[in-house]
Order: sequence, then structure tokens, then C-alpha cells
Amino acid sequence: MAKSLGPVKRKFSPWTDADAVPFIRFENVTKRFGDFVAVDNLTLDIYEREFFSLLGPSGCGKTTLMRMLAGFEQPTSGRILLQGKDLSGTPPYKRPTNMMFQSYALFPHMTVEKNIAFGLEQDSLPRGEIDARVQEMLKLVKLDQFAKRKPNQLSGGQRQRVALARSLAKRPKVLLLDEPLGALDRKLREETQFELMDIQTKLGLTFLIVTHDQEEAMTVSDRIAVMDKGILIQVATPAEIYEAPNSRYVADFIGDINLLEGKLISRDAATASDTVKVDCEGINVTVEQTCAAAPGDAVAFAIRPEKVRISLDQPADVSVNALHGEVWDIGYLGDFSVFIVKLDDGRMFRAAQANVSRLVDRPITFGDMVWLSWSADAGLVLTR
Ligand SMILES: Nc1ncnc2c1ncn2[C@@H]1O[C@H](COP(=O)(O)OP(=O)(O)OP(=O)(O)O)[C@@H](O)[C@H]1O
Ligand SMILES: [Mg+2]
Repeated sequence: MAKSLGPVKRKFSPWTDADAVPFIRFENVTKRFGDFVAVDNLTLDIYEREFFSLLGPSGCGKTTLMRMLAGFEQPTSGRILLQGKDLSGTPPYKRPTNMMFQSYALFPHMTVEKNIAFGLEQDSLPRGEIDARVQEMLKLVKLDQFAKRKPNQLSGGQRQRVALARSLAKRPKVLLLDEPLGALDRKLREETQFELMDIQTKLGLTFLIVTHDQEEAMTVSDRIAVMDKGILIQVATPAEIYEAPNSRYVADFIGDINLLEGKLISRDAATASDTVKVDCEGINVTVEQTCAAAPGDAVAFAIRPEKVRISLDQPADVSVNALHGEVWDIGYLGDFSVFIVKLDDGRMFRAAQANVSRLVDRPITFGDMVWLSWSADAGLVLTR
């Protein structure tokens, strides 16, 4: 599904600037629960006004990382710095962070406006200021008409927005969102994603968000960290994560991809990028990319289905990579069709094609013998 990158994906890349000072820094942070290592010597910089997502399978340490930043857990070793200042010893309520939990418990007996005002009243702010801020928040999350309702008189999405307003009311510099949109249906979820991005940009906040949904992370984030077992595998922009995954793990985790295991045959460094030849158990492919592996090394070849062309005729250009096989299955996704092709050696390979109608071509269907082809710069050699 084609996705917009959001209304305001501004020119913003402080992480590429060697002089930029990170807003939040996890420095060699480890968290153990007994013998179990939930976060393993992790180092990560997050910049002011960044929309940063943590992505990874259940149990990989995402919530633990957030809870340490919010001050609900202490690192076993390592430090967490905010604007250069060590946060250890600072209790949660004195940190400029606010965490919206996986289950965003609202007070059921309080109206929407009371829920939003709660934290401000705890801080004994003057009445006038509380009222003004509640009004501002209600407007921001578009719940002005619902101020007097109780949570059980709201839809799931509206409740989620109350929770968001409540987290924002105290004007945290950093908002920690743990699966904030988990309860919403797909349509509402997408709408709320854009609202979140809008709010974040308007208020100039730093967001750290946990999500299970990779598409959501791709949509909202400036950068994504892909985690596994308490370790960061790759930290990069959504486009880099998708187009240049650094490992089989990331390639396989984000989006759909063909992965073939093989051995590097040769690496010719004549041009800016290397010409790498890989033997994938009988399928030989050529890839243009810079690559650190040496001949004989075990590597994987990876290519996204949408970068594979499918045709009834053999490609005329002999320099492209080409495989022959039979159409085994077709998945129709509306805007795209995915062809699952059984190669002549029995392996399965995927090609995706945008459904733009070209009536001159005979449509490709089940049982057709086809050619799959791609240029040398379309695939990737993965060494990790
Ligand atoms: N208080 C605790 N005591 C013991 N183990 C814990 C504790 N809190 C978390 N863990 C363990 O640490 C690991 C990481 O937990 P965490 O909640 O950070 O995962 P997560 O990435 O947020 O997962 P999910 O996506 O399911 O929310 C898990 O294996 C979990 O069982
Ligand atoms: Mg969690």
C-alpha cells in the first residue's frame, strides 16, 4: 500500500551533523532482571524534536528502555543523559518526560476535562491556568464537544485521544508513547498517526514511540531503531531501513523480501560501487554495491518483490539478472499484485507489480512460464 510520509517530513537530520548535541543519550545501558538481560549494553542518541520509533518483537526490551528513561526503572549499569545531564537519582515526576502507557488507563468516574486536568491539579497550578491548558488540549485533539463526557461514553479512538491530551497537558519535553494506537482500527489509526505527527511538529516535542506495526513506524518516524533481544540491530531513517537493511534480520523484519543464502564468488572494485557476484546454491546473481565481504564468505542475497520485473518474454538485455519459472500463486492487493513464482529449481520467488492497466500486454496468470529480472543495483548483499 503506497503511504505518504506525512504532512511535514521536514528537512531534519541532526544525526548526520557531527556537532549536534543529542537531547537524550543512552550510554552503555544494561538492564537485568535477575539473570535475564532485558537491555544489553545499549548506546543510542535521540535528538530534540525527533520522532523516534522502537520496533522489535515482543519481549525485546522496548518498554524497559522507555521505563528507564521515564525513571520507573533504574539501569543496572550505564547512564541515561538528558541534555548532557545524568538522570540517575531524578525521580519520574521531576523528569521532563511523560509516558503514555500501553493500556492508557483513564479515570472512569471523571469527565474528559477532569481527566486532562488531573496532573495539573496534582502540581497545584493556578485554576485559571489549568482551565486554559485543558481548553487548549481539548482543541488540539479535537475533543472540544466531549469535555463533559465520561470515558465510557467515548469511542476507543476518542479515549486514546483523551489519554494523549492528558500526557501532553503537562507539557513534557519528551513524550513516551507505548503502543499508543494499538486499540484503534486501521482507518482511525492512520488518521491518528497524522494527528500525532501534526501535534509533535506544532508543539516542537520529542517523541519516543513503541509500535508493533512496521507500517506505522515507517509513516511517523524520523528514525527507527530495530531491536532484538535487548540489542539495537539498526538505527536509521525509514527509507534506509527499507532500502538498505544492514542484516538479514532487519531485511526480513521490515516489509516483504526475497532472501537467498549463498557464497560470495568475486568482488570487483573497479567502480564507485563494487560488482559483487554471489552464488546462491546454483543461482548466480550480480549486485552493484559497496561490500566488505571477501570471496568464499557466506552472504545472503536480498531483493524486494517490487524491484523484480515479471514478463512472459526473456529480457533482451543479457546483463540483467534473470530467472525462469512458473506462476504458482497470485495475491491481488488492489494497487499491487504479488506473483509467487516457482523457479525451475523448485525455489519460490516473489515479484510484485503495480496494477496499472496496459491492455496491449496479455495479463500474466497461473501456470504461465515467466521471466523474473532485475538490474544489478536493485538487490543487496547482506553479510550479517
Ligand atoms: N519486572 C520484570 N521482571 C522480570 N523480567 C522482566 C520485567 N520486566 C520485563 N521483563 C522481561 O524483560 C524482557 C523485555 O520486556 P519488555 O517489556 O521491555 O518487552 P517489550 O519489547 O516491551 O515487549 P512487548 O512488545 O511484548 O511489549 C521480557 O522478556 C520481559 O519478560
Ligand atoms: Mg512493551
